[in-house]
Amino acid sequence: MVSRNGQDGIQISPLTGSLGAELSGVDLAKPLAAATLATIRQALVDHLVIFFRDQQLTPEQHKAFANAFAPFSDVPYIKPMPGHPEIIEVVREADEKKVDNFGGKWHSDLSFMEEPPLGSVLYAREVPPVGGDTMWCNMYQAYETLSPGLRAFLDRTRVMHSARRSYAPGGVFADDDLKSMRIEASETALTEFSHPTVRVHPESGRRCLFINPVYAIRFEGWTEEESAPLLDYLNRHCVRPQFLCRFRWSPGALAFWDNRCTQHFAINDYQGHRRHMHRVTLKGDRPFGIDGIGRQTTAGLTPAQAPAAA
Ligand code: SIN
Repeated sequence: MVSRNGQDGIQISPLTGSLGAELSGVDLAKPLAAATLATIRQALVDHLVIFFRDQQLTPEQHKAFANAFAPFSDVPYIKPMPGHPEIIEVVREADEKKVDNFGGKWHSDLSFMEEPPLGSVLYAREVPPVGGDTMWCNMYQAYETLSPGLRAFLDRTRVMHSARRSYAPGGVFADDDLKSMRIEASETALTEFSHPTVRVHPESGRRCLFINPVYAIRFEGWTEEESAPLLDYLNRHCVRPQFLCRFRWSPGALAFWDNRCTQHFAINDYQGHRRHMHRVTLKGDRPFGIDGIGRQTTAGLTPAQAPAAA
């Protein structure tokens, strides 16, 4: 396994040739020095999802670690943990019967929001003896491996995102079969919001696909029926095995993913066992494409990385 030491003694061990790295040599329960936070943030930008093991975190320490990188995001439709409005509990009980588990389809978190999250910080409190892994995919590579013609076409399209398949009345999570999660379905989930199909990452300056099969429902100006063949193709392309990593959880493990350039999938293969995670979700900014429309900040972009004019 390739491994390198950051200046501050943090070891960074990439997990696959595509994305993901385990970081060791840091105790996230303690306040971290600015240089350590910078190392972790750079590891996130470089590896897209980073993992830490054997952390002992109270909810307050979990929030403090996450909040060192960005403000907290709203998390619509999911009731927070009592006493901790910034944490949602991702739980599946041992006797749960519903086929659809929370996070059990490829998605990026809350992409239907005007300002979808920068990332999420998921901490494992109780995990099954085997199973319950999470997978991530690399949306830069998904974009970069398309043909030049398709990239040029997608660069100038936008996609409508909506929470309605999940959280509108009648949606996947609208009934109370998912008894372990605290979900509130609402008519507001019928709203659609437009984002560029190809997003320029505000920190790396790289282009990535910004779609997912749960919330990205159609191209702007196209019907769902017209959009389905191309979206289906792209959704299959995004999750080619060479663009994936898979993390095996252990109690006290923590994953921090960049929600702007990845999707993730929580595998439901642990019937008869309980899985209990805490998630803090971090506020992001409005996605912008190659035309720069909607861009709120140039922070982190060198002139060479700044999006080209349309
Ligand atoms: C999620 O989609 O945030 C949940 C991921 C997981 O439970 O592994």
